[in-house]
Amino acid sequence: MLNLVLFGPPGAGKGTQAEFLIKSFGLIHLSTGDLLRSEIAAGTALGIEAKNFMDKGELVPDEVVIGMIKSKLDANKEAKGFIFDGFPRTVDQAKALDVLLNENGTPISGMLCLQVEKQELIDRLLSRGKVSGRSDDQNQSIIENRITVYTEKTLPLIEYYKPQGKHFDINGMGTIEEIAGRLQEVVEKL
Ligand code: AP5
Repeated sequence: MLNLVLFGPPGAGKGTQAEFLIKSFGLIHLSTGDLLRSEIAAGTALGIEAKNFMDKGELVPDEVVIGMIKSKLDANKEAKGFIFDGFPRTVDQAKALDVLLNENGTPISGMLCLQVEKQELIDRLLSRGKVSGRSDDQNQSIIENRITVYTEKTLPLIEYYKPQGKHFDINGMGTIEEIAGRLQEVVEKL
């Protein structure tokens, strides 16, 4: 079983690259952002609560996202492995994920950290906001807040995985295919 954390700031290309990894390695893609947006679209109580945080670029409370991941892991016990995209985002989420995966006997194999320059992140998200209408891509100040929240609350996760020898930096600049090739090379070794 191969369990990967696809890591990086908003707009780094996590969702885009997850599509390639699913095809190459037959893993299940678990994006907490996508799961939360599905809850919002369905108008559930969880979605209504989450929207307040997401529209401002703030993190949804840990217990909400950990609960969503737990139910997805429970529902996919026969999976070959998972790509966690946008999760974990805090050290408490990473610790909770370790507990959940230890129950299945397979810990995280690697944390793949996409590195992209800040202006490129902003340009990518503003372009997507124009066509997708995603509420948290709509203006530069929300995007900048998402990047600040990432720097303050999520980036420290590197120090959680690094001592375990699981952290891999990947250059996230260039064409989608070039980046996919770099990821493929690292994941094949795992
Ligand atoms: P989430 O949905 O996870 O958003 P994010 O981390 O901000 O990431 P994005 O989806 O914006 O970017 P991405 O890295 O996936 O890039 P993508 O491939 O889409 O989270 C949204 C919100 O939900 C959070 O702010 C928070 O409120 C909440 N949330 C989610 N998870 C949570 C958690 N665990 N805990 C608490 N709260 C949580 O690409 C972006 C764009 O760039 C696309 O248009 C793409 O086509 C384009 N692009 C990609 N690669 C390239 C390239 N190489 N060149 C040019 N363009 C490219």
